[in-house]
Amino acid sequence: QKGDAWSGRFSEPVDALVQRYTASVTFDKRLAVYDIQGSLAHAEMLQAQGILSAGDYADIQRGMAQITNEVNAGEFDWQIALEDVHMNIEKRLTDLIGDAGKRLHTGRSRNDQVATDVRLYLRSEIDRITGLLRNLIGALLGLADQHADTIMPGFTHLQVAQPVTFGHHMLAYAEMFRRDMERMTDCRKRVNRLPLGAAALAGTTFNIDRERVAKTLGFEGICRNSLDAVSDRDFAIEFCAAAALVMVHVSRMSEEFIIWMSPRFNFIDIADRFCTGSSIMPQKKNPDVPELARGKTGRVNGNLMSLLTLMKGQPLAYNKDNQEDKEPLFDTADTLIDTLRIFVDMVGAITLKVESMRLAALEGYATATDLADYLVKKGLPFRVAHEVVARAVRTCVEKNCDLSDLTLEEMQAFSPLIEADVMSVLTLEGSISARNHAGGTAPKQVRKAVVAMKKELGL
Ligand code: ARG
Repeated sequence: QKGDAWSGRFSEPVDALVQRYTASVTFDKRLAVYDIQGSLAHAEMLQAQGILSAGDYADIQRGMAQITNEVNAGEFDWQIALEDVHMNIEKRLTDLIGDAGKRLHTGRSRNDQVATDVRLYLRSEIDRITGLLRNLIGALLGLADQHADTIMPGFTHLQVAQPVTFGHHMLAYAEMFRRDMERMTDCRKRVNRLPLGAAALAGTTFNIDRERVAKTLGFEGICRNSLDAVSDRDFAIEFCAAAALVMVHVSRMSEEFIIWMSPRFNFIDIADRFCTGSSIMPQKKNPDVPELARGKTGRVNGNLMSLLTLMKGQPLAYNKDNQEDKEPLFDTADTLIDTLRIFVDMVGAITLKVESMRLAALEGYATATDLADYLVKKGLPFRVAHEVVARAVRTCVEKNCDLSDLTLEEMQAFSPLIEADVMSVLTLEGSISARNHAGGTAPKQVRKAVVAMKKELGL
């Protein structure tokens, strides 16, 4: 049947397996709304330019309205034999309105048509993703504000390093997702260009008005070169790269949630509705959602690699290879959107085990750097101070106690510069509130950063 579109050239019908192999309608039918939107903008322009009669344009509008209803109602009869979303819709349009349907494809090719559909689709997905990222940042800022004073151990090498506030830790993720938002917004600019008018590759002999179509569809401008317009998918690759980074950030956060929920850490609890149990072990409550998000990061990274590989060997202009751009792209957007939707709720519903976080910060000599800084402020060169404190820590390790468990006399044995005021320096509160500068972990700075980012995002 699809052979109808070009049967004149062929002497035998397409092989059945080849028909299935080359068809994309099973997955590109989700572009239907964008395909119709693009066709209507194209038809409107053809009519305005006197290429299509007002009557034909009215018929096309009427036919497309009915097709839209059929698609939305799930009643549209998609046929593999018609290969893709474009030819399925065109065939139905022609069945409904006759010759006007056959005139729609004037001055157009499926090559510029599909590139337009994908861009319209991606633009709308990017807008959803940007909104979700904003909500996720909102949830993180809520936690940060609530726990601006909550102390936990900060880690390097997953070894206790220095005390930080939980709020500060959440702000670190807020910053990552803020950059992700910027990347999405920036990518959108390059997505939002109109390929239509490029036709198959060289442009068209009709007197078209591409700017008019761009305006109708809300594009910021046209793709300036027709060969480039139909053949490159760099905008989709760029989106997948930005999406992969979002997932990498989600994955790192997930890894921390999983570790923190382990009884060995016991820092947080994740609400029951985001966890699952075990079919054999009755006591289990597993952090499946963050684990799965960490796992799904693999497929999103893989989708990026698929698209890069898809593009690398293609000569100009359009090649059928590009039909393979859709599944990785759709899967990336779907995975990202579902993940972000769940994380917005899950992050907002995390509860903290404040006491056990505090106890963990008291282990591992987290304030050793503070003691070294203290000695520097009393005149000791930093490297010497570092050595003095290292010896004190070693003694504590042998005695199995904390630095703050040493008496003033014991400490003075390490350095005569140590005086009674050292005690406040060794406390967790002293440690965090001393880091009171832009970007530091002090509660004051955390609150300031929360206010600033809320203002920036209009939250
Ligand atoms: N289904 C095709 C795609 O996804 C549409 C363009 C096909 N053009 C062509 N000349 N075969 O890319």
